[in-house]
Amino acid sequence: WANLGLQDSASPLMEQLIFFHDHALLILVMITVLVGYLMFMLFFNNYVNRFLLHGQLIEMIWTILPAIILLFIAFPSLRLLYLLDEINEPSVTLKSIGHQWYWSYEYSDFNNIEFDSYMIPTNELSTDGFRLLDVDNRIVLPMNSQIRILVTAADVIHSWTIPALGVKVDSTPGRLNQTNFFMNRPGLFYGQCSEICGANHSFMPIVIESVPTNYFIKWISNN
Ligand code: CUA
Repeated sequence: WANLGLQDSASPLMEQLIFFHDHALLILVMITVLVGYLMFMLFFNNYVNRFLLHGQLIEMIWTILPAIILLFIAFPSLRLLYLLDEINEPSVTLKSIGHQWYWSYEYSDFNNIEFDSYMIPTNELSTDGFRLLDVDNRIVLPMNSQIRILVTAADVIHSWTIPALGVKVDSTPGRLNQTNFFMNRPGLFYGQCSEICGANHSFMPIVIESVPTNYFIKWISNN
């Protein structure tokens, strides 16, 4: 808790998102420092130019210069947008359905395995469990593979969000949204629903178990 930065990335796309965040923040800091300096210096204004009413050249410069600075944010942003949208021959597809208030999952490629995933209530939590974050049935997915996620909802709008993977897709009734990711390390990746879907909105977390491919095959064939 009290971590104000982004989580460590577990996918190449999240890595790119962090790079873009740092890049945009750097530009933001430079603008803030410049404008802050100019505003501070107004206190020491000695009114040498109080009869100056117009200046075509300086107006041109301070209109075009911010526009050019914005391009340095706009182009990397568009690059990232199209990078996130690209689906690169997924080897596993997971369907995730939002309900009030739990997620249900379907592995349509593998004999249509399906299960519900509920948050573990605080009073049933083990000592090493994460409060409001652990679930009874985790999603198991192979690392180092392209994974496609199909997201929809059965009642109201939810949102399937995993910060470490850079994934955030609205799950909407009557719609099927698609996203993808690639996990480059094993581990547990936690997420939460991030649409305000009702009274127990904060009680429908998501847990992914990222495992080696042979472990995944073992898990999927035992289900
Ligand atoms: Cu489901 Cu918020």
